[in-house]
Amino acid sequence: MVRHMFSNVLLLWSLSYDIYITGLTFDYPKEQSWNNQNLYFVPQDLDVRLRRLDLSNNFIRQLHTVVLPYLQQLDLSSNQLDLISEGAFENLAQLEELNLSRNALDNNLGSNSKALQSIGRLKSLDISMNGLSDYSAEMYLRNKSSLNQLKMTGNALTRLSHSLFKESKGLRAITMENNLISVIEEGTFEPLSQLEMLNLAKNNIAQICDFTLHQLKYLNLSRNSVEFFVSRENDLLYRLEVLDLSFNKLLYFPIVPKMNQLKYLHLQNNMLGALHLEAAMVSEVNYLYHEIMNEKIVTKNTLHSNWRLMPLVYMDLSNNHFRSFPLETLSRLTFLETLNFSYNCLQSIIWNVRPYSDREYHRQIFFPSLKHLNLQSNGLAYISPLFLNALTQIDTFNLQDNSVQPCAHTDHLRSSESTQQIHLNGSCVAFQTLSTLKHLNLEGNNIKMLNANAFQETSLVSLNLARNAHMVMHVSALDGVQETLQSLIISETNMTSSDLSLPCMPALTHLNMSNNRLDSIPSSGCSPLREIDIRNNRLVSLNNSFISAISAHLRVMFISGNDFNCCDSKWLTTLDELKVKLPDMSGTECFSGDSRVNMTVYLRSSSSYCLFHNKSQALHSWQMFIVVLFVFVILTFLIIFTRKLCCTQIPFVV
Ligand SMILES: *[C@@H]1O[C@H](CO)[C@@H](O)[C@H](O)[C@H]1NC(C)=O
Ligand SMILES: *[C@@H]1O[C@H](CO)[C@@H](O)[C@H](O)[C@H]1NC(C)=O
Ligand SMILES: *[C@@H]1O[C@H](CO)[C@@H](O)[C@H](O)[C@H]1NC(C)=O
Ligand SMILES: *[C@@H]1O[C@H](CO)[C@@H](O)[C@H](O)[C@H]1NC(C)=O
Ligand SMILES: *[C@@H]1O[C@H](CO)[C@@H](O)[C@H](O)[C@H]1NC(C)=O
Ligand SMILES: *[C@@H]1O[C@H](CO)[C@@H](O)[C@H](O)[C@H]1NC(C)=O
Ligand SMILES: *[C@@H]1O[C@H](CO)[C@@H](O)[C@H](O)[C@H]1NC(C)=O
Ligand SMILES: *[C@@H]1O[C@H](CO)[C@@H](O)[C@H](O)[C@H]1NC(C)=O
Ligand SMILES: *[C@@H]1O[C@H](CO)[C@@H](O)[C@H](O)[C@H]1NC(C)=O
Repeated sequence: MVRHMFSNVLLLWSLSYDIYITGLTFDYPKEQSWNNQNLYFVPQDLDVRLRRLDLSNNFIRQLHTVVLPYLQQLDLSSNQLDLISEGAFENLAQLEELNLSRNALDNNLGSNSKALQSIGRLKSLDISMNGLSDYSAEMYLRNKSSLNQLKMTGNALTRLSHSLFKESKGLRAITMENNLISVIEEGTFEPLSQLEMLNLAKNNIAQICDFTLHQLKYLNLSRNSVEFFVSRENDLLYRLEVLDLSFNKLLYFPIVPKMNQLKYLHLQNNMLGALHLEAAMVSEVNYLYHEIMNEKIVTKNTLHSNWRLMPLVYMDLSNNHFRSFPLETLSRLTFLETLNFSYNCLQSIIWNVRPYSDREYHRQIFFPSLKHLNLQSNGLAYISPLFLNALTQIDTFNLQDNSVQPCAHTDHLRSSESTQQIHLNGSCVAFQTLSTLKHLNLEGNNIKMLNANAFQETSLVSLNLARNAHMVMHVSALDGVQETLQSLIISETNMTSSDLSLPCMPALTHLNMSNNRLDSIPSSGCSPLREIDIRNNRLVSLNNSFISAISAHLRVMFISGNDFNCCDSKWLTTLDELKVKLPDMSGTECFSGDSRVNMTVYLRSSSSYCLFHNKSQALHSWQMFIVVLFVFVILTFLIIFTRKLCCTQIPFVV
């Protein structure tokens, strides 16, 4: 009986032990990292069950046979590998991802390429930074029918031939940044029917005469020397969504495929607009197109007709050479939401849209989806009111570093037509027409006068008026937007407290008044301020009841660079108690008599710094006490004396 029980217990024990063991076997190390361990060789006693092995950042020079039948990922990047023996990968039956970047694989091509050719099931290969020539790259890419991803950045490739990828036709993503590629033979990428992403940035490609890769979704040609980009018109549907042609030498807009899905077009830092105004530029690129396509007669505006079909939402044209805004071309892009036109040389936006007929005076065209427009640093002094009318959906308007003067609000003007007539020649900009506008940046425009109701009828949420050192701000300048405004920046406007009066703004949470000459905060307590910056002003103290009034929401306050009086700093104690963050507290000083005191230090022992202040007060009351005592004694003495006198006189009367 006991024996039977004992055997049962044993059975139970062994069962649970078994479960325990099995649990353990699931926990074996699938992954091992030897990153940066000063290894000169691959370690000998590796666990055969490993799935991932990281040997990067060591000094390994040779790779011989490794037996890791379950290994899927091997990282040998940043070693000094120059020899891989032919059979090195033979016993890595599961290997799918191999990182060999930053080695010296341009050596021992015979043996290395045989080794690499033996792993046909590889899905991802990184052979960047190995000094590879065109020929060695081709050798390493043989027998790679399963390869999806290939990285070959920073090698010495110059010419891509149609035989390069002939045994790796399953590629989906190729990155060949930072080589010396100047020639791409026809048929190099065309047969790669799965190819979606191609990055050729930082090479020497000079022109794309006929873009035929309709399977691509992403093409990066940034930082080459591309002068023009042209696609032959056909009825194929191109899948391209992102095209980066930034930092090139484009003189003309690219002629994109007729049927495309382009959403993001990066054209910043080119030479667009350098030669001609819009009309000439358009006809020249059409001429060029027909010349490249060997068509004799130029009849069609291919640029415009193809751009009209483009579902573009984002375009970056910053840092080009535009002297006029390409109104007609850009208005073809009816889905365009974001346009970065900063750092060009516009100076003015004139409505030079060609009329359809002689009778038509100013033809109004629109940018029907444009929400975010960046015109920073264009030297703009004039913007046609018809241009403002065209911005029917504008949300964010960046006009930083121009010379724009906001117009006064003219109440009697209701229809846009009369606004046109009034302002057509005037040099001010009537923001009141932009009813959807939420974010406006007018920093550094040398604004002279901000008139009453300057932004009325907009929906402004944030307004930046910084760096307008000569700006006179009307008391009612913000009327009409004081209910909606959440962020206001008026730093570096050289204003004193008497120059500045702010209305009650019940939505304002961020206020930046730094770098002025304010000696009091001109804000009424009615804003739920969360962040306030009053750095570098002339504040001596802050109104404690104001601080208490805004304390409910206040999180952060910047205060350094003022003339605070140490002994009048109840506000500081209040802020400290309310746990408001004062990030620049350690750089803040206050004045006590003639000496400056570090405010952090002051807060720790405030009583000792204002001792003189307190002492004089104590002295004062002590003196008062003596005087009162003195008067009391004299009075008592007098009373006693007179009474005595009276008493001695009575017998005389009786
Ligand atoms: C290969 O390793 C390098 C770092 O050594 C890393 O930057 C790169 O992204 C890796 N390649 C892949 C495809 O993960
Ligand atoms: C190509 O790869 C397959 C699968 O990995 C392999 O069996 C074959 O030997 C390789 N061919 C050459 C020529 O190395
Ligand atoms: C294109 O490549 C450049 C250079 O690596 C990179 O800076 C840029 O972000 C890429 N463009 C896009 C749209 O991804
Ligand atoms: C617009 O372009 C400028 C200059 O290239 C750049 O600094 C800025 O970040 C861009 N702005 C947006 C919103 O993309
Ligand atoms: C309006 O502008 C045109 C062209 O710039 C100029 O010739 C004309 O004198 C201006 N009219 C007024 C009233 O400023
Ligand atoms: C306030 O504006 C100044 C520029 O005058 C800037 O340096 C500072 O970072 C801004 N403060 C905050 C909190 O953003
Ligand atoms: C600010 O205003 C004062 C007094 O009007 C003037 O002396 C000073 O030059 C102004 N500073 C700037 C940067 O314009
Ligand atoms: C202090 O602020 C309160 C409320 O914000 C205001 O009523 C009072 O006039 C201010 N006192 C001074 C001296 O500015
Ligand atoms: C003020 O004191 C704090 C803490 O002792 C210190 O970190 C900070 O550097 C000092 N600031 C100045 C301007 O001396």
